[in-house]
Parts: sequence; C-alpha cells; structure tokens
Amino acid sequence: MRFDIISAVPELLDSPFNHSIMKRAADKGLLEVHVHNIREYGLGNYRQIDDYQFGGGAGMVMMCEPLANCIDKLMAERDYDEIIYLTPDGKRYDQKMANQLSLKENIMLICGHYKGIDERIREHYVTLEISIGDFVLSGGELAAAIIVDSVGRIIPKVLGDETSALFDSFQDDLLAPPVYTRPADFRGWKVPEILTSGNLPKIEEWRYDQALKRTQERRPDLLGDE
Ligand code: ADE
Repeated sequence: MRFDIISAVPELLDSPFNHSIMKRAADKGLLEVHVHNIREYGLGNYRQIDDYQFGGGAGMVMMCEPLANCIDKLMAERDYDEIIYLTPDGKRYDQKMANQLSLKENIMLICGHYKGIDERIREHYVTLEISIGDFVLSGGELAAAIIVDSVGRIIPKVLGDETSALFDSFQDDLLAPPVYTRPADFRGWKVPEILTSGNLPKIEEWRYDQALKRTQERRPDLLGDE
C-alpha cells in the first residue's frame, strides 16, 4: 500500500513512519509513504503557495495552481483509490474508515494550512474529506500521520501476530479489556486470578465481559444505549 502526502511542512512528517510498527511495515515492503513538499510547486521566485482570500478576511488560503500541479504529477504516475483532504469539516474518522482504507492500494493525503485550501481543489480533485476530531490543528500533517499509522498497522501481515488487530478497541464496537503482564503480584496489586488459571475459554469469557463493562461505563454510545 502506498501513501503520497502533500504538505507545506514536510519536516513534521520526518519521523512518525520510521519507527516501530510503521518501520516494520515499510521494511517488509507492505507500506510506502512519500511526502511531497508543496513549496517545490510554488509560484515565482518566492515559491508562493498561498494568497489572501477573495472577499477579505484574515488568514491565507493555499492556492490552486501549486496543489493542482502536484496532484496532476502524482495522478500521471499512478491511479489513486482516494484523494483525501484533511480538514476539521470533513467526515469524522473512526476505526471503520481505517479498515476500509486499509484495503486500498494508493491513497493521496492533502494537508491544509492557514485558512485551508482553495475550494476548487476540493471540488475537482478530492474524493474524501476526513476530520480526526472536533478540534482545529495548525495543519493537516498530524492528522495525516494518524491516518497512515492507524491504516498501516492493520494492513494484513503488518502485525506479527496476525490476529491481534482484531482485538483492538473499536474493532467490534467494544473497547479493549484490561491487560496485565509479569509480575503477577506487584506491591500486593494482584492480577485477576482467572488470567493465570490457564483456562482459555474462561479467560475469553472474562475478557469479553470486561470489554462490555468498560464500554458500558466509558462509551455507552458505542452500544447504542447512550
Ligand atoms: N486540519 C486541521 N484540523 C484538523 C482536524 N481536526 N482533522 C483533520 N485535519 C485537520
């Protein structure tokens, strides 16, 4: 799977994909992430990428031409399954969207800055607009990193234990149950006995009950009984 990220601050994306699971996915040839500096497509000697908004008002808008030239170049090289614009007024991101995106081959992510990008790019190129939550970031880069991380880790064969992503929080509309590791007794704080019993069916049952309890307490909306 391949991500192409268009950014005005590519330095923000130097590190997130070079560690841990993302690095393993890249090393296995399962995930490629390419970051494109929109400034290289900027206009004139100053490589201009933004301008004042028509109609007045504070804040700059990212211009059509640099974005269109960058997108056109990428589209000439391969077909994209989705061209995604990260924006607070997009569709709210969740695990279901991550699952759907993990089945795609090529995804382009456009990071906005300042007041956002010229609406005509959204109309003519963008196929999906995503918000990672009801708050405003200073740019789309951190949102893009979240999309790549959450999608990248569920590409088949990325996780060592192939089934483990299935038990993540949200995969079955339940939060994950509590987990413990050694020692079984730390400062007198004991691990629930069932987990050291070796009785696998009982352990599964306990985990399901805990997941349900946790979801009821913390996120009843996931169970449809808010
Ligand atoms: N860019 C700025 N804020 C954002 C958000 N909440 N989600 C996605 N992209 C953004």
